[in-house]
Amino acid sequence: MICGSTSTTIQTGVLRSRVESQKNRACSNEVVFLTTLSVSAISAKNISRITHGFDPIEFLERSSACVNRALSEFLPKAQVKPRTIHKAMRYSLFAGGKRIRPALCLAAAEACKGTWELALPGACAVECIHTYSLIHDDLPAMDNDDFRRGKPTNHKVFGESIAVLAGDALLTQAFEVLAQAKTTSRYNMSMLVLELAKVAGSQQLIAGQVSDIENEGKKVSLSELRFIHERKTSALLCGSLRLGGMSANCSPEHLKALSDFGHNVGLAFQVIDDILDITQSSEQLGKTAGKDEASQKATYPSIVGINKSRQIAKKLTSKAFSALKPFKGNAVALESLGDYLLNREC
Ligand code: IPE
Ligand code: IPE
Ligand code: MG
Ligand code: MG
Ligand code: MG
Repeated sequence: MICGSTSTTIQTGVLRSRVESQKNRACSNEVVFLTTLSVSAISAKNISRITHGFDPIEFLERSSACVNRALSEFLPKAQVKPRTIHKAMRYSLFAGGKRIRPALCLAAAEACKGTWELALPGACAVECIHTYSLIHDDLPAMDNDDFRRGKPTNHKVFGESIAVLAGDALLTQAFEVLAQAKTTSRYNMSMLVLELAKVAGSQQLIAGQVSDIENEGKKVSLSELRFIHERKTSALLCGSLRLGGMSANCSPEHLKALSDFGHNVGLAFQVIDDILDITQSSEQLGKTAGKDEASQKATYPSIVGINKSRQIAKKLTSKAFSALKPFKGNAVALESLGDYLLNREC
């Protein structure tokens, strides 16, 4: 086994100091260029987020370490020619993201009695897709952002041409990585590839990004906004969970439960992202705060206000928890991560 998936037996009494040090890893960035990037992120209230004896921060730290090692092995080394592209790919990939999607993938595999080892190709593939989408999202032609994961954006360091190509390369890399997954009796390789292609494609992630851009400065209805958020964000979180379940040869009933959980948690994730853009500082987020209002983006707070947005995110998270019923109490990691994502501060 590449990494220990030590199941769900995590200690209950985590000391505040430990949480403080863990939160830095879970939420922040390894190298900091924003002047005072204090990595606050998880407040004291999150200490009580240890649900059913499960500590989501400890899980994120452990899963991130495992995923980082695997990603580094899957990707061409920075010295491989042409160096610029491999450096650029690694620059964004290892800039210090929270690794939420891989964590959900591994937690889903655990819930279906699978192993991290078998789920790792899927977990790494979704992180490659996610990182590519961020590099492109930050381009001047899209959201035009200067900071990401606490560092200057890819195009600020490598220039726009290389940033476009680094995104392209990570998108392609994702499928190369996924192709190394072991198949199971229920899920063959074409089903795995189809899963990733669909969530990243022009009817899901790209559809959401297109709609997000096209609706800048426009009055958008709540149902249109839901369309955008379900596609640009929720689809990939959902696919991450499903690939985790598939790696464990999960039953159709469990796959459906993971889809429902992922759909709701994924939507809540983007609602919270919209809120944090307003309530947090750039230092806390590791990306430019207040960008949505400046770009006149359609967001939940812009349509229903911050308080109602929080209520919506809570309701979506409760719905997500209900979806976990078929696991009969064996999806504590997923439940705990869902709770963590609702209460996150970066
Ligand atoms: C940011 O995702 C983009 C959204 C879909 C909201 P994350 O908040 O997971 O970003 P990283 O991976 O931690 O940088
Ligand atoms: C990004 O949404 C979604 C994708 C990259 C697919 P946002 O534009 O809201 O993400 P941030 O706020 O820049 O991280
Ligand atoms: Mg965007
Ligand atoms: Mg953006
Ligand atoms: Mg955002």
